Amino acid sequence: MTSFDHHRRPLVIGIGGTTRAASSTERALGFALRGAQEAGANTRLFGGTFLHSLPHYAPEQAHRTDEQLELIEAVRHADALVIATPGYHGGVSGLVKNALDTLEELRADERPYLDGRAVGCIVTAYGWQAAGSVLTSLRSIVHALRGWPTPFGAGINTLETRFDTVDTCSDAKVVDQLATVGQQAAQFALAFNAHGTAAAAPPAGNALKETQPARLLHAV
Ligand SMILES: Cc1cc2nc3c(=O)[nH]c(=O)nc-3n(C[C@H](O)[C@H](O)[C@H](O)COP(=O)(O)O)c2cc1C
Repeated sequence: MTSFDHHRRPLVIGIGGTTRAASSTERALGFALRGAQEAGANTRLFGGTFLHSLPHYAPEQAHRTDEQLELIEAVRHADALVIATPGYHGGVSGLVKNALDTLEELRADERPYLDGRAVGCIVTAYGWQAAGSVLTSLRSIVHALRGWPTPFGAGINTLETRFDTVDTCSDAKVVDQLATVGQQAAQFALAFNAHGTAAAAPPAGNALKETQPARLLHAV
């Protein structure tokens, strides 16, 4: 994709959840994507079941599964993302991290990794400590992938907040916070693309791209 059609709605991709059918993380992500829709975006969710179908990312292997290619293509064409992970032992879950590792396949793209894309970040955890620390960790990963974490990120303490169904949440404030994450991701895509910067080819004098191979384009 080399130019942005200003008449189409931006596409916001959601990645997140756990293997549990009643995953609060995936349900929280759904609330955020509805916020993105209200802000004018189309959305697509890659939830826990899909993420569980991805093999461990192995950079030395040439073959990619259909599911890996589906995720890679979707992110390649995304205008913004929202990523939601549970805090597992003080970090991002392996399931979500494996999906993000798979995005290594975007290293040689015109827009490498998540370059030029806003990324909303959501963490669920059984307590405030992991909610905060894992949110910081997830944002660092987004920076490494050259994405732009949204100003507001949501940390949810699932000891206090319940998601009993896909569209119910016990705390109206959390619903607002999740909608804000999705709205900010969509609004950034609309604003960034309005100026033709997100999907446009990098300027000819892009020193970083000229002097470093794509493999070295990680932000950190
Ligand atoms: C393997 C594992 C490790 C976990 N580690 C932590 C942790 O370090 N800190 C914490 O607050 N919660 C921890 N939790 C709790 C989950 O983060 C929390 O229950 C989360 O909301 C689960 O998301 P889900 O409902 O989408 O499955 C852990 C849960 C599991 C299964």
